Amino acid sequence: MSAKILVMPGDGVGPEICREAVRVLEALASDHGLDIELDEALVGGAAIDAEGDPLPESSLAAARAADAVLFGAIGGPAWDSQPRDKRPESGLLRLRAELGLFANLRPAILYPQLAHVSALKRDIVAGLDIMIVRELTGGIYFGKPSGMHTNANGRREAFNTMRYDEAEIERIGRAAFDIARARGGRLCSVDKANVLDVSQLWRDVMNELSSDYTDVELTHMYVDNAAMQLVRAPKQFDTVVTGNLFGDILSDAAAMLTGSIGMLPSASMDANGKGLYEPVHGSAPDIAGQDVANPLAIILSVAMMLRYTLDRADLADKVENAVGYALDRGLRTRDIVDDETQIASTQEMGGAIVDMLR
Ligand code: NAD
Ligand code: IPM
Ligand code: MN
Repeated sequence: MSAKILVMPGDGVGPEICREAVRVLEALASDHGLDIELDEALVGGAAIDAEGDPLPESSLAAARAADAVLFGAIGGPAWDSQPRDKRPESGLLRLRAELGLFANLRPAILYPQLAHVSALKRDIVAGLDIMIVRELTGGIYFGKPSGMHTNANGRREAFNTMRYDEAEIERIGRAAFDIARARGGRLCSVDKANVLDVSQLWRDVMNELSSDYTDVELTHMYVDNAAMQLVRAPKQFDTVVTGNLFGDILSDAAAMLTGSIGMLPSASMDANGKGLYEPVHGSAPDIAGQDVANPLAIILSVAMMLRYTLDRADLADKVENAVGYALDRGLRTRDIVDDETQIASTQEMGGAIVDMLR
């Protein structure tokens, strides 16, 4: 039976990069026996404009029915002044929660061709390969109470709650230990246990779990130090596990080590192998509609889909190799360009990957 893939392009550069990712999937279907059925649904600002809701019922139903979701990006200044539940970001957050996508895998891998494009010196990033495992359906993003009101002093007051229960921590912890075991065998748990109770519980649960994974070396680091270490000596990390907010911030920082946020893919997994695949970057309103966005983050997200949901590691390798060949040939979108290379458009980069696959 063919696998059902739902494409949700969203806003800004989302539709532009999704188009290239779909061409990659279609090439794999026509030339390499990938058995898929593609469908498309509205999300984010595009869905607000069409139906007044960033995640319409029909889109959610289609996502539930799919084996995997390919997600572009959402958001933009046009919707920033809407009430929170009518903002594009709320559609993505609801989708993650409704589908139970608690484990967000964000690999930061340096392609050697881009070593000199990294914001850091070449020898600090050469060979970089780290995996950030971010908890995605809990923590301060979802904790109640949250809101904004006028307090007893007549002043506006706003609040969010960082909350984890031990089952949520155990679930992401086990996922991260399994990933670390299959990689370099080292797991660094990042928290703020010196200040936050929720982090102390996080650390306690990680320590308790480690007795089930004696082959994995568990260490702990405070998040402020982790931000500094990521920039000072990023290769000390193998697998990192952390909560929702810390993971959001640290993965953007890690992105820059690889040359551009336009290079970073992600997979958001439920407990059964279903996944939503999206670039780590956002809708990039500053460059939307110009055919300049880097499509490699979403194309590498397709590779993660092939590996984790579609069980086609062979094709995942092909896609990742095609990205390497395109970089070898000097293709560069504007965000990763250097002196010796020519600027390629979004479509030229996507087309080059498709050519390599054929
Ligand atoms: P952003 O990631 O959209 O952009 C940050 C910077 O990186 C911009 O200068 C942008 O041009 C550049 N950039 C991003 N992707 C790129 C690509 N593929 N190629 C080349 N350059 C790229 O972050 P932001 O500006 O803080 O947010 C813009 C909007 O996106 C906001 O509405 C935000 O909420 C939303 N957002 C959505 C997601 C998502 O859909 N998963 C993720 C992050 C931000
Ligand atoms: C991300 C984004 C989202 C997040 C926003 C758009 C809700 O920044 O996927 O990294 O904070 O998780
Ligand atoms: Mn983010």
